[in-house]
Amino acid sequence: MQKPTRIAPSILSADFAKLGEEVRAIDTAGADYIHVDVMDGHFVPNITIGPDVVKALRPHTKKVMDVHLMITPVDPFIKAFADAGADIITAQIEAGPHPHRTLQAIRAEGVKAGISLNPSTPESSIEYLYDTLDLILVMSVNPGFGGQSFIYSQLKKIEAIRARIDALGLDIDLQVDGGVNRDIAPQCIAAGADLLVAGSATFKGGPSAYAENIKALRG
Ligand code: DX5
Ligand code: ZN
Repeated sequence: MQKPTRIAPSILSADFAKLGEEVRAIDTAGADYIHVDVMDGHFVPNITIGPDVVKALRPHTKKVMDVHLMITPVDPFIKAFADAGADIITAQIEAGPHPHRTLQAIRAEGVKAGISLNPSTPESSIEYLYDTLDLILVMSVNPGFGGQSFIYSQLKKIEAIRARIDALGLDIDLQVDGGVNRDIAPQCIAAGADLLVAGSATFKGGPSAYAENIKALRG
């Protein structure tokens, strides 16, 4: 069943010189989740932040800390992000040969488990993972950077996964990430997404614009 739309601003687009202040600002502005993009310069062509930054940000918000790991390997780092305060840890299905084991390891830390699919990865790849999932992330850009353009072919994937979640009667967040803005958000929701990541669309215009940006995304 598609849940009410929640907004997960990606702090990749925040001012990295004042991340604590930025997290407090988007929390106050109405963010439902805080989306933390972790990149290793190996799985994706960019390097961002690690578990120590998640730990530093944890006291600044009570909202869901939604950690998106664009790293490989994943398993050696799960405990560090769980201990740092992640509420959800999402791994890329392409990051290694044993995604089922990775999801089990995330849940074993008492953290919700998510899987993320890059634009070229078909929804069939998660057919045997639904019973180990709390969140499915459909990447609508090739991961690595904020401010990219939305890849429209992913709407069909969102529809297919929504149908599968509903057919199985499961309670799984269906998240879309990359290039989402106030014009594209309604198309993602209509396709079946109920959790929207937005970096540049949230942070554009500075702190005084955050509340209106988030409201516009929620529709
Ligand atoms: C892309 C990241 C996304 C990105 C979203 O690699 O995974 O979360 O930060 O940023 P926008 O919304 O600007 O595309
Ligand atoms: Zn992300």
